[in-house]
Amino acid sequence: MSVDLSNKVFAAITAVGGYIPQNKRTNFDLEQVCDTSDEWIIKRTGIKERRILEEELATSDMAVRAIQDLVSQFGKNLQDVDAILVATSTPDMPMPATANIIADKLNIKTAWAFDINAACSGFLYALDMGASLVETGRYKNVLIVGADNISTYVDIHDRSTNILFGDGAGVVWLEPSKEGGVIDALLQSNGSGRDFLNIEAGGSLYPLDRPDVDITDKMYLKQDGKTVFKHAVQSMSDACLNVLKRNNLTVDDVNWLVPHQANQRIIDAVGRSINIAEGKTLSNIEYLGNTIAATIPLCIWENLKQIKTGDLVMLTAFGAGFSWGASLFRWMI
Ligand code: COA
Repeated sequence: MSVDLSNKVFAAITAVGGYIPQNKRTNFDLEQVCDTSDEWIIKRTGIKERRILEEELATSDMAVRAIQDLVSQFGKNLQDVDAILVATSTPDMPMPATANIIADKLNIKTAWAFDINAACSGFLYALDMGASLVETGRYKNVLIVGADNISTYVDIHDRSTNILFGDGAGVVWLEPSKEGGVIDALLQSNGSGRDFLNIEAGGSLYPLDRPDVDITDKMYLKQDGKTVFKHAVQSMSDACLNVLKRNNLTVDDVNWLVPHQANQRIIDAVGRSINIAEGKTLSNIEYLGNTIAATIPLCIWENLKQIKTGDLVMLTAFGAGFSWGASLFRWMI
């Protein structure tokens, strides 16, 4: 039985904003604090520098600036916002949600606001949640933020992580459209991957005052880089091909692939694996590194001039959990 889509309401992205901190952490800075080299980092990751948020600021501050950028570029009225979904693994504090803090800082009184923690897949998850809200017809203007102050959790002396991560925030505005918008999302998770990529301390398992364990050792982001790399390539490639297939599309229909920016070699391997044409994959990892939930909206934000109305955009991400997925939308701006 075919589905009648003539009355379908899509959730379309109608505005985008972004913020990256001023302070740069270059490969040469890292050479000063651990046994690494600019040459090695570029060859193995494609990264030259990352941005680091000032110590006295937090995730909400970057998100607020990203939203202010969206407002100034697209002339949106924040009093129209019905809901704010914030994808972050680095909330300002465990409670309340960073989304509440952002709403307060922006004087948004009309919206409900909550966080989604799905690590580097967070923006993908939040985008689909937000699109679902819009598709119900009950919510008309939904902000989807991806923001992380991950540098707080990176041990500056640990060369297995300090080379990869940086801070940033991106945001998109969703609203109903008859013409097009979010088409589909294939989202997955497998918690057995939790040992390979995590920050253990600060939750209920390892509270900061737990006396019987060395909390300092658990306060930083840890990963088994090789295992994560392998799963990331396989999972993102499979998700892309499967989401295309179930929508009767092929990779040639895709105008832009916006992958999570974890390592340029991962991005290239996914591109080869799904056989996407050269020049269709967006990347900004060289000068931002991995900004966790912010990579995808920041990449869209930086490429606004390239993406044309009606273009088919495919997003894909992989992160701690493990969590991963791919989604498709028509660009309606
Ligand atoms: N600088 C210089 N040398 C380094 C180094 C660094 N920062 N890190 C590792 N090395 C050395 C190792 O000691 C090893 O030396 P050896 O061959 O003499 O033993 C060699 O380089 C290769 O190390 P390896 O760990 O195999 O490197 P890699 O190619 O796997 O790259 C990562 C390491 C972390 C960059 C890579 O595994 C990665 O990006 N993984 C995915 C991580 C990720 O995306 N996490 C977030 C997911 S959202």
